[in-house]
Amino acid sequence: MNSLPTIDGLHSAESLTPALFDSIFHCAERIEADPKSFVDSLRGKIIGTIFHEPSTRTRLSFESAAQKMGGGIISIADPQTTSEAKGESLADMIRVVSSYADVLVLRHSRDGASRYASRFSSVPIINGGDGRLGHPTQTLVDLYTLHKSWEGDFADKTVGLMGDLKNGRTVRSLAWSLASLGARFVVLPVPGLDWEASFEQRIMEYFDMRMRFVSHPLFEKWTGNQEARVIEPKGLVQKELFGNTVPKMDSLDALYLTRIQAERGANASGPFTGVNSEILKDPLLENCSLLHPLPRLAELPIEVDNDPRALYFSQAANGPIIRQAVYLSVLANRDYDLRPLPTLSAGSDLHHLGSCPNPNCVSHLEERAFPWRFFGNSRRFFLCSWCDSKLSVDYVGCSSSRKVHPIHSPLAQRILPENIQPFLARADAEKAGYAWGH
Ligand code: CP
Repeated sequence: MNSLPTIDGLHSAESLTPALFDSIFHCAERIEADPKSFVDSLRGKIIGTIFHEPSTRTRLSFESAAQKMGGGIISIADPQTTSEAKGESLADMIRVVSSYADVLVLRHSRDGASRYASRFSSVPIINGGDGRLGHPTQTLVDLYTLHKSWEGDFADKTVGLMGDLKNGRTVRSLAWSLASLGARFVVLPVPGLDWEASFEQRIMEYFDMRMRFVSHPLFEKWTGNQEARVIEPKGLVQKELFGNTVPKMDSLDALYLTRIQAERGANASGPFTGVNSEILKDPLLENCSLLHPLPRLAELPIEVDNDPRALYFSQAANGPIIRQAVYLSVLANRDYDLRPLPTLSAGSDLHHLGSCPNPNCVSHLEERAFPWRFFGNSRRFFLCSWCDSKLSVDYVGCSSSRKVHPIHSPLAQRILPENIQPFLARADAEKAGYAWGH
C-alpha cells in the first residue's frame, strides 16, 4: 500500500489526537504567557497562503501568526490574479509554489483538496478549509477556547452542534475531535441540512461510541423535532438519561452554532431559529458556552454579544495563537518539543471503483483516480482517501488467493489488510480475474 499523504501535514480532524491537542494547547499557553520569546521562531521561513475561497479569520490569522514569529509571507487571496485564470491546474500550482515556501496553507472549495495537494507539494500543507470535508485548525481554535473555559476537561461534557451540518466543515471537524476527547455531542441540524448517516457511523466505529435519542422542547424550534440524536462514548453513563422512554436533556455545556452555507447550495426545508435573548433564558442553556466559527448570519443576532456565555469573539481572537503553535508543530521546530502530526492511514491507487461518488470530490477537479482506504473490524468502511465519501463496496477480493467474497462473509473478514481489493459488483471482480470464493 502507498502512504498517504506523501508528506506530513494537517489535512483533517483525523490528524488531531488527544496527544496533539495537549501539545498544541500547551504550546499556545506558552506563547500567550511569553510572546516575546517566540518572535524569531519562524525567522528565515516563508509561509505561503493559497486561498481559493473568501476568508477573513483563517487567512489573516495565519498571516498574523507568521509575522508575530518573524516569518515571511507570500499570499494568494484571489486565484483570479494567478495563472489559474489562464488554465493552470491546482497540481501544477502547488508543485511550483511549494518550491517558494516552507509551508503552505490551502483553502479550496473541493472536498479533499488538502490531501490531494500534498501529493504534489515538497513542503507540508495545512488545510485552511476544504469543501465540506474539514477545517482542522478551526477545530483547534474552537477546542482551545473550550479548553480555557473547562480547564482542559472534556470528558462527560455535552456539546450541541447546530445549523448546517451537511455543508459545514468546521462542525464536522469538531464532531470528530469531540469524540476523540471523550465528549458527547447532540446533533441539531437545520431541517434538511443533516450530515450523511455514514459520517456518524464512522465516528461511532472509530471511537467505540453509541447513538441514542434525547428530547427537549427547544430542539423542536431548532430542528423541527423534539428528539435529537446524541453520540457518546459507550462507557459514559448519565443515569437520568436512561430509561424506556426518550429522556429529556437537562443541560448543554456548549452550543456550537453554524450558519447556512448558501455558497454550497444549502437549502433548508424549514425555518432556522438559532439563539436570541429569549431562548437563552431556557434552563437548558444556563451554563452553556456559545461558540460560532463566524461569519454569522441571523442565527446569532448581535443582542447576544454581551451575554457572558458568548465566547465567539474570544474564540476568533485565539486564531493567531493557535496558528503560531501549528506552525511550530508542522515545521517540527526542535526548540519546542511538540509531537509530530500523525498522517492518514494508507490507501492505494489500484482499484476497480470507478469515479468517486461525491461530485465535489477533488478527484473530479483534474480527473485523477482517487485512492481508497478502509477501516473497521466487524464493520468495514471503504472510503475515498481524498474526500472520505463512503464507497458502496459489496465485494472484497484477496489479491493473494485471487478469490472474491461478499463483504460481510467471514472469509472476507479474514483477508489481510495488504491483500484487500474492493469491488462494487461481482462482475467487476470476475472481469479482473478473481474467482468466486463464496
Ligand atoms: N471561521 C472561518 O473559517 O472564518 P473565515 O472564513 O473568515 O476564514
